[in-house]
Amino acid sequence: MPSKGCFITLEGGEGAGKSTLARGLAAHLSAHGHEVVLTREPGGVPAAEAIRNVLLTPSSDWTWSQLTEALLFNAARHEHLEQLIRPALSTGKTVICDRFADSTRAYQIAGAAGLEQQVADLEQMIVGATKPDITLILDLPVEHGRERMLERGQSPDAFEQRERAFHENVRNAFLTIAGNEPERCIVLDASRPADDVLNQAIAAIDSRVAPE
Ligand code: TYD
Repeated sequence: MPSKGCFITLEGGEGAGKSTLARGLAAHLSAHGHEVVLTREPGGVPAAEAIRNVLLTPSSDWTWSQLTEALLFNAARHEHLEQLIRPALSTGKTVICDRFADSTRAYQIAGAAGLEQQVADLEQMIVGATKPDITLILDLPVEHGRERMLERGQSPDAFEQRERAFHENVRNAFLTIAGNEPERCIVLDASRPADDVLNQAIAAIDSRVAPE
């Protein structure tokens, strides 16, 4: 058994199909002998899901600063890492996580220019050495993502309600991260049908994750 499992994260904007891809990848890797833990952020363990509820429930009763928002995402992440992700990786499991620290870089910085250094410092403190081995970035035009969400008929959470310019910033931020870290990040065309996206993802990671 390997001493450390593979850590795969999925990132991208709204309606990009991350959850569908996460399930497809989990099935593929399990069928190829990997012990897979499929999880998500914010959340993944009960303590972090409690913080998720606060973060994603829209309210007109309060506002908080962008730094508070970044702290709350990191608080949820700390519990997730300590209670689930690090123990799983240390026993050789493959962890697939639907959103992780790149979402904080993209969303919290898109909402507040000037927060870059604090977000980077928090990432260093909370994530430290537990960086993803592979990050799949599902790229999709903002309008296309919105249409998909409307088709699903879900009521929008606090982030989905933000205006188009915010989501354009988020998309550009993910592409910038991918450009800066090409050894970790792979950009996938999420406008393709779900099966095609899954095949693109499998081809991209099979070359990096040796079958057991
Ligand atoms: P979720 O319903 O999981 O969205 P999606 O289906 O698009 O993944 O809600 C997560 C929301 O939280 C999403 O709008 C992105 C946002 N988010 C941040 O702003 N920062 C973060 O660090 C993370 C993990 C998520």
